[in-house]
Amino acid sequence: MAIDYSEKIPNNVDLASNKTLQRALEQWQPGFQQWWAEMGPEQSQTSDVYLRTAISVEAKGWAQFDYVKMPDYRWGIFLAPAEEGRKVNFGAHKGEAAWQEVPGEYRSTLRRIIVTQGDTEPASVEQQRHLGHTCPSLYDLRNLFQVNVEEGRHLWAMVYLLHAHFGRDGREEGEALLERRSGDADNPRILTAFNEKTPDWLSFFMFTFITDRDGKFQLAALAESGFDPLSRTCRFMLTEEAHHLFVGESGVARIIQRTCEVMVQHKTDDPVKLRSLGVIDLPTIQKYLNFHFSVTSDLYGAEISSNAASFYTNGLKGRYEETKITDDHSLEGSEYAYMDVVNDQVVSRHAQAVTLLNERLRDDWVSDVQAAIDRWNKVPAKLGVPFQFTLPHKGFNRKIGLFAGHHISPEGKLMSEVEWTHQHKNWMPTEADRLFVHSLMGRVVAPGKFASYIAPPARGINNQPVEFEYVRFN
Ligand SMILES: [Fe+2]
Ligand SMILES: [Fe+2]
Repeated sequence: MAIDYSEKIPNNVDLASNKTLQRALEQWQPGFQQWWAEMGPEQSQTSDVYLRTAISVEAKGWAQFDYVKMPDYRWGIFLAPAEEGRKVNFGAHKGEAAWQEVPGEYRSTLRRIIVTQGDTEPASVEQQRHLGHTCPSLYDLRNLFQVNVEEGRHLWAMVYLLHAHFGRDGREEGEALLERRSGDADNPRILTAFNEKTPDWLSFFMFTFITDRDGKFQLAALAESGFDPLSRTCRFMLTEEAHHLFVGESGVARIIQRTCEVMVQHKTDDPVKLRSLGVIDLPTIQKYLNFHFSVTSDLYGAEISSNAASFYTNGLKGRYEETKITDDHSLEGSEYAYMDVVNDQVVSRHAQAVTLLNERLRDDWVSDVQAAIDRWNKVPAKLGVPFQFTLPHKGFNRKIGLFAGHHISPEGKLMSEVEWTHQHKNWMPTEADRLFVHSLMGRVVAPGKFASYIAPPARGINNQPVEFEYVRFN
């Protein structure tokens, strides 16, 4: 499964043997490059960035590191190796050979799934395009750019599927993916969380920590798909995604670390004092966590969903780690728990598991987020700072699903509108909090130097030293 870099579009799908497809993608390519020039990271076009590029799709040793100007990045089409004899592993078609072509009856549904996933990829690049101006270090700037070029590649991954399997409709969708813009009033991206701003680096790290993690779970569910090209595409995307999650988790951990160090050094937990010392007080970090957690929770959709049920029954989208689960993979007759608001109380209920697949995927994501928060909490513990981060209740600040329209405290208590109005500023970043965080966002680009609010990483990228010149400006 070597990747062919001699072609205009690097690929491991033998694109050269399908001239029609190759031509269609080559026609789409200039539009993508134009989009990158307009909506990619600002003022980055001439810089040399120490980036990794995929050179194989094998799990070990697929990346090569070198200086690249981002507009010259070799975006391409990389699918994980085909699994011989792969079957549809769940739902009504379980046991059939996995589909190499789109089944006619699922054509529009699959197209919608692919477009919705595809739309998030350029959206995040657009959301993050200003951040280079305020990078806390060269190391972080390089990580931002790495995430950006790979989200660009993920767009390629989805556009390949649209072009290869959905004919003219697919090509039109490919165009539209370059036309929508994050936050645009007339032509927004499809999902709400991808129209929010990512105005500062704490938001960026929270986004890559939590929202890219939603990406991981969506891709993992699609990697189970009976439509084999989608499965193979998503499997390779997941290997790239792991780095994005690392950037987010370690980024926040380094901010926590720096704050805790200053707390110990100055023997204080007073937010005003800490802010004057150039670090972000821990309660403010908790508020950012609450905000990003709740907004990203909504991406999973309503708890009870007939769409999710039919995606599953039809073999299009599985559960997280479907093939590792030991049950009959049909969900017939099985139940699953969810939460609802009944008579002014938050209660636990049960319903048919097949209707609760959004909720189940959200639960899998919550456990993964919680495990990462447990890792964060070791930072204050190690430094003797008595503070622990906690996830808010699932119903907190939700706009979609059964909690929408209700006010739920982080502890899970149902509140009146009045109570919420009094208290929500203790739980979510206020304008003043955001302004303060923004005020710390100076640009630090001397090699080995870091902004006041963030600790250096434990090690550099690809065994390079922390003070390596990860970005060279030209
Ligand atoms: Fe992505
Ligand atoms: Fe990502």
